[in-house]
Amino acid sequence: MDIKEAVKQRYADEACCDDNLSCGGQNVYLVDLKAGQWLLDIGCGRGSDVLKAAALVGEQGKAVGVDLSPDMIKAAATAAEQQGVSNVEFYQGDVEALPLPDSVFDAVISDCAINHALDKKRAYAEIFRVLKPQGVMVVSDVVALETLPQEIKDDPAAWADCFGGAISEEDYIDAVKAAGFAEIDMLKRREYIKNGYKMASITLKAVKEVIS
Ligand SMILES: C[S@@+](CC[C@H](N)C(=O)[O-])C[C@H]1O[C@@H](n2cnc3c(N)ncnc32)[C@H](O)[C@@H]1O
Repeated sequence: MDIKEAVKQRYADEACCDDNLSCGGQNVYLVDLKAGQWLLDIGCGRGSDVLKAAALVGEQGKAVGVDLSPDMIKAAATAAEQQGVSNVEFYQGDVEALPLPDSVFDAVISDCAINHALDKKRAYAEIFRVLKPQGVMVVSDVVALETLPQEIKDDPAAWADCFGGAISEEDYIDAVKAAGFAEIDMLKRREYIKNGYKMASITLKAVKEVIS
């Protein structure tokens, strides 16, 4: 099975994606949303942050969730319907090729999802593309603080487990810079051990500054 299929299967079971899995958990409150704004949550899972954002931006605004897993998108749409929230949209899609137009979002958040992307540079180029000029991004994710063995890097199950796809902190920040984000603030950083390896969850904030 390839890595993307393994990730999809892992998140086919909606019960496996709960608040305990999040790296940051508060990103929706760190982008300073205002009434009428548009927010995108990448790897939105069951949509709990999208629903929080929908309340913050109000009826004139919009909160959008994208997730690789059709099951997560279905669960998120069902939750929105059950709660009577209408200013939301959910799309099945890949952060490496977002099914969304350029320069439409005031804010992009993501929590523990981009480590699953095969090409982190491509993922951050997509985030940069869909943000409006001066739009803000707050992303939490996992990074590896030591080199993971090749068999882990090649193991789809390890990728699905928020582990095998983790790259070094330096390479991760380079991927964000390569997309065009100039100033990157580290809002949070927590080191931990996973399967015997030193890892960290980091939360980064950056603005799409466009120099004309
Ligand atoms: C650990 S869960 C986090 C879910 C949610 N952000 C949270 O904090 O509860 C990772 C999510 O990222 C999604 N995902 C994995 N790879 C993705 C990709 N390439 N593009 C978009 N979403 C992806 C998974 O389907 C899953 O719902």
